[in-house]
Amino acid sequence: MAKTYYITTPIYYPSDKLHIGHSYTTVAADALARFKRLTGYDVWFLTGTDEHGQKIQRIASEKGVSPKEYVDGIVEWIKGLWKLLNVSYDQFIRTTDPQHMAIVQNIFTRLYEKGDIYKSEYTGWYCTPCESFWTERQLVDGKCPDCGRDVELVKEESYFFRLSKYADKLLEYYREHPDFIQPESRLNEMVSFIKSGLEDLCVSRTSFDWGIPVPFDPKHVIYVWIDALSNYITALGYSTDHDEAYKKFWPADVHLVGKEIVRFHTIIWPAMLMALGEPLPKKVFGHGWLVLEGGKMSKSKGNVIDPWVLVEKYGVDAVRYYLLREIPFGSDGTYTNEALVKRINSDLANDLGNLVSRTVTMIEKYFGGRIPAPSQREGVDDDLIQMAVDLPALVERYMDSLQISNALAEIFKLVDRCNKYIDETMPWVLAKDAAKKGRLATVLYNLAEAIRYISVLLTPYMPDTPPKIYAQLGVSDELTTWDSLKAWGGLREGTEVHRGENLFPRIEEKSERPEAPHEITVSNAPSTDTPYITIDDFAKLDLRVAKVMEAERVQGTDKLLKLKLQVGDEVRQVVSGIAQHYAPEELIGKDLVLVANLKPVKLRGIDSQGMILAASSDDGGKLVLVTLDGDIPSGSKVR
Ligand code: ME8
Ligand code: MG
Repeated sequence: MAKTYYITTPIYYPSDKLHIGHSYTTVAADALARFKRLTGYDVWFLTGTDEHGQKIQRIASEKGVSPKEYVDGIVEWIKGLWKLLNVSYDQFIRTTDPQHMAIVQNIFTRLYEKGDIYKSEYTGWYCTPCESFWTERQLVDGKCPDCGRDVELVKEESYFFRLSKYADKLLEYYREHPDFIQPESRLNEMVSFIKSGLEDLCVSRTSFDWGIPVPFDPKHVIYVWIDALSNYITALGYSTDHDEAYKKFWPADVHLVGKEIVRFHTIIWPAMLMALGEPLPKKVFGHGWLVLEGGKMSKSKGNVIDPWVLVEKYGVDAVRYYLLREIPFGSDGTYTNEALVKRINSDLANDLGNLVSRTVTMIEKYFGGRIPAPSQREGVDDDLIQMAVDLPALVERYMDSLQISNALAEIFKLVDRCNKYIDETMPWVLAKDAAKKGRLATVLYNLAEAIRYISVLLTPYMPDTPPKIYAQLGVSDELTTWDSLKAWGGLREGTEVHRGENLFPRIEEKSERPEAPHEITVSNAPSTDTPYITIDDFAKLDLRVAKVMEAERVQGTDKLLKLKLQVGDEVRQVVSGIAQHYAPEELIGKDLVLVANLKPVKLRGIDSQGMILAASSDDGGKLVLVTLDGDIPSGSKVR
């Protein structure tokens, strides 16, 4: 039987639409769930919504609808968001689900009967936006210690959970399970929190009624944390006569939460489970916050980034990649649009996208679009192959310790290695010598096979991209599994490749300046923007037909290609900023238009004798070279 893996996200408050911070947790959980499925686990991935409480009741009444009507609308929106983000949850729990409500009532009753819940009077301070109660001692300058806003004094008859009784048991549990709270810094915080003294917890309210009634005292509703935390077991049918999923998946392998609710998950929740006599989750991982330059994002502050807008603009895999790659998982990080665009342009468009398009293009050009059989292995191959073969285990180690960004970074090291391998082996040079055909075949085979490894390993993070790559490389289903990475050489010779769309078009933001803008770009801006010139002005240009003989990347730049051009009897070297739009090998043999009398310059220390013409779209996202409509000898004048 397959090993099981149960992973959860927090259940979010549907008090408003969710933002990129909630998407961050959910996408991370999704990557972990997908990774475990890929590696053969029987996975249960739970997410959902935490729908009760005073705040939601208040918002709904402001909008003139019932709380349930209000949250129904938001929940639909949230499910749409998870669909958009390719979140592969197995179950979406709502705390208004009848099964959840019934089980929470059972749990409450059992704890009451055991004496772990008792009735008393509550006096305390309540922060409505945070849904948190605070003792006098916990307030900071009389305000909520979490958000700094005003709190209100509440005094009412309440039920209490005997949390204080569990302080020592919790500390002992932490000692015996050093991995329970991750990252480790959060463990230290929890230990000091407990040592500073645990008070019993107020677990019911009488001042509002949007909640689960206490079954034996229905003027009370069960206060949100008992209701919310229980979701992780009510979802599995805990304590019912259909608790197969509970038996199969509990205890959870990991509760993924933001750092602000680690305390609830590592103190209250384990104490509740101890009181119920149930096993504790194996791990609670508290990740850091995604903040904006102005501070923490929050629905109640109103400074949020809408994930929907980002996905529409940049694509789902680009957004997922950024969220998973940019910030070491566990640390706080600042969201910036610039960093997102930079990740897309450099890692996805330039490194990954170009690697795939260059490889497929070369297989089309040199081997008629069929993957060639490798034959002549050389020393430089070993390093590439070894790296690919070692990668799955390395990625798995990182994922098992929830170092998601490191796992992705390792995969992209192989992407870089492949690009370097192209530069080292120079397939376009091999292609000129018939005697080197076997070597060229080996190089292209190795690239295609390494791309297969990369694609399989990327599926948990960017699920939409690998299928596109498989389609281009003709990778069949059985070669997309984890097991298919056990041995190098899975790709079959003779498989047909098909050049596809650019995987990740470059994003040109207005603020970005091109590194070496030196091609004339025929702008589609209104022509009235430019003054007239006379025919004599135009005659100053010496435009010539030029044939590309050689092309290669300029080391250390993303944008530059070095071209050798045949212009009549003459050979010209030109450095051109088109590397993000053309792979060197696809240029060979093309007839272009050269500005032959442009004063020579050095770019990155390389002589550039002239400039080739290209057209580019207004936003710079697309660039195409000016070519000729028919055959004409190189050196011919363009006028
Ligand atoms: O706390 N950066 O729900 P909630 C990173 N219902 N993660 C963020 C984030 C940010 N800026 N903002 C939100 C609740 N999150 C309770 C949970 S669980 C039994 C009950 C994520 O809607 C992060 O996972 O306030 C955080 O813990 C969660 O959203 C809070 O969501
Ligand atoms: Mg919150």
